[in-house]
Amino acid sequence: MKHLFAGLAAAALMAGAASAQQSITIGHSLSPESHYGVGAQAFIDTLTELSGGAWTGEQAPAGVLGGERDMIEGLQIGSLDVVITSTGPLGNFVPEVYALDLPFLFRDYAHARKVLDGEIGDELLAKIDENNLVGLAWSENGFRHITNSRHAIATPEDLQGLKLRTMENKVHMAAFTDMGASPTPMAFPELFTALQQGVVDGQENPITVITATKFWEVQDYLSLTGHVYSPVAILASPVLWDGLSDEEKGWFHEAAKASAAATRAEVNRLEDAGVALLREKGMTVTTDIDKAPFAALAEKAYSVYTDQYGTEMIERIKAVQ
Ligand code: PAF
Repeated sequence: MKHLFAGLAAAALMAGAASAQQSITIGHSLSPESHYGVGAQAFIDTLTELSGGAWTGEQAPAGVLGGERDMIEGLQIGSLDVVITSTGPLGNFVPEVYALDLPFLFRDYAHARKVLDGEIGDELLAKIDENNLVGLAWSENGFRHITNSRHAIATPEDLQGLKLRTMENKVHMAAFTDMGASPTPMAFPELFTALQQGVVDGQENPITVITATKFWEVQDYLSLTGHVYSPVAILASPVLWDGLSDEEKGWFHEAAKASAAATRAEVNRLEDAGVALLREKGMTVTTDIDKAPFAALAEKAYSVYTDQYGTEMIERIKAVQ
């Protein structure tokens, strides 16, 4: 009998412990092996470790919960807890973030990371917080390059009339119109089929994404235009956030930092290894590209941001050394 009571007590304790454990879902657009998947896992592992197992989590990868815009909306209504998203659709929610999407603004990875990890990054995370979202940290997708199924691209003339999928981002669309392409905004989950069926001729994304998505199966040409840096925001749902203690919020911030560090390490690794892989898979890679004529044409697109916010933020970003 004594044993029976002890057994029941232990079972009750275990049930209590199990129900006390909380689990989050992290949505993102790529595979669990991608730089986003690696970042999502680092988030979960850090959160579990810091909370002594009280918090755990799982990934909703590969756009199973929709495109990035859908997932951001999911955060706002509380149907998702955390999202790792490019800034592609974020300007639709937080227009100040368009400053980060301007073409040919960041000189290199070191410049972009310093801006995002410094006071400008913090200011923009605070703007995110004002728009029914919680900005946890900046992470990274990488510099974007153009792929297509028609011909090698080395000059803006080569872009003329090319049907190019862009993100749902009005700065990017304006820049590609100014550079001579025909931009077609489209959510990422639709892209592979659109390329396969010839609905669009090409797309632009970092090496990380081109490798993770096996675009070599539907695209023959890669041009290392590096026309724009693609930041990533790690966002939480305000619905989740409002129920957390200060200590728990601290764990989430640390988890986001660990996620960004893991993702950036993966971006570094793939910048070289990825191009070699894409060549091996048969893509023709154009590396010798004079960026100046592209940049001169794309500069007009800055007005999408500057007409509303002026040039101050752009000058500040450029001044970061
Ligand atoms: O092209 C996009 O939409 C984004 O770069 C992607 C692939 C969803 C990653 O954030």
